[in-house]
Amino acid sequence: MTNTLTLRRPDDWHLHLRDGAVLQAVLPETARHFARAIIMPNLVPPVVTGAQAAAYRDRIMAALPDGMTFEPLMTLYLTEDTDPDDVSAAHASGLVKAVKLYPAGATTNSASGVRDFDKVRPVLERMAEIGLTLCVHGEVTDADIDIFDREAVFIDRVLDPVRRATPGLRVVMEHITTSQGVEYAKSVDSGLGATITTHHLVINRNHILVGGIRPHYYCLPVAKREEHRLALRAAATSGDARFFLGTDSAPHVDALKETGCGCAGCFTATNTMGILAHVFEEENALDRLEAFASLNGPAFYDLPPNTDVITLTKNDHPVVYPEKIDSDDGPVTVFDPTFPVHWDVR
Ligand code: DOR
Ligand code: ZN
Repeated sequence: MTNTLTLRRPDDWHLHLRDGAVLQAVLPETARHFARAIIMPNLVPPVVTGAQAAAYRDRIMAALPDGMTFEPLMTLYLTEDTDPDDVSAAHASGLVKAVKLYPAGATTNSASGVRDFDKVRPVLERMAEIGLTLCVHGEVTDADIDIFDREAVFIDRVLDPVRRATPGLRVVMEHITTSQGVEYAKSVDSGLGATITTHHLVINRNHILVGGIRPHYYCLPVAKREEHRLALRAAATSGDARFFLGTDSAPHVDALKETGCGCAGCFTATNTMGILAHVFEEENALDRLEAFASLNGPAFYDLPPNTDVITLTKNDHPVVYPEKIDSDDGPVTVFDPTFPVHWDVR
């Protein structure tokens, strides 16, 4: 049995760091294990312009504790008023690695997102020209579409038409949750990738609802049926370069989760690598964890993989990860994977 596993240092290709007190509290949880992360721009107000992304990057770097290294890979929040020239300049300067598309109303702080896709056509065409990636929150928001169907419908009604209308546009399907998402990503040979979160490899929709409502398992896109979780596991552990880790670690303080209308988001930064080792071991795929967490993402974004390594060690006793991370705004609960995690990361 494998007891230690050395990997190139991983990156997180989809991360929410927030701002202020929560940023201060959660940044070390990611920087401890990950070298880089694609930073989501859904702050209030959102990070729309290159200047706002530069200022946010500076706030992130100022929050990094002494002695830790971390490289935030910044993104811009796509609105119907986004200026293609500003996007080009932010890309050319090396500041911005992707633009994030939120359909308006799809999730947390998405009100400034896109309603009419024709209005963002000039930006998408510019992005295709300059080779800048579009990261997509893939859910329709129509009230008549069941929440469990919103990803599959988005692929047919929005993603596929947008991709066909914009040849050369590089797209990452963020946090896929369905077998339809897996199949669509597999149907394209290049220029299309998909991130998969840690928690969607662990929970299905029953975990959220059976035996009582569990707000810390609620996120968007919401976890689906077991057959979909199994499809995600097969994709993540396959080694297929189109699939890579984007944790979508999304901290909300407990007061905003454990309430009548709780926020969406699972906070997994603290124990993601330990949980992933458990999942990949269950799937007899520990030798493919490095591809998923450390190699496929950099290859998609045309960046070099990290040169240093982390070592995962399997202990006889479960590792004691903190249950909560304290912030000056209140505690943030760490995702509880439903099983004891025996893998520790150094
Ligand atoms: O669960 C989620 N939380 N999904 C998202 O798309 C946004 C995120 C957040 O910002 O909290
Ligand atoms: Zn997200």
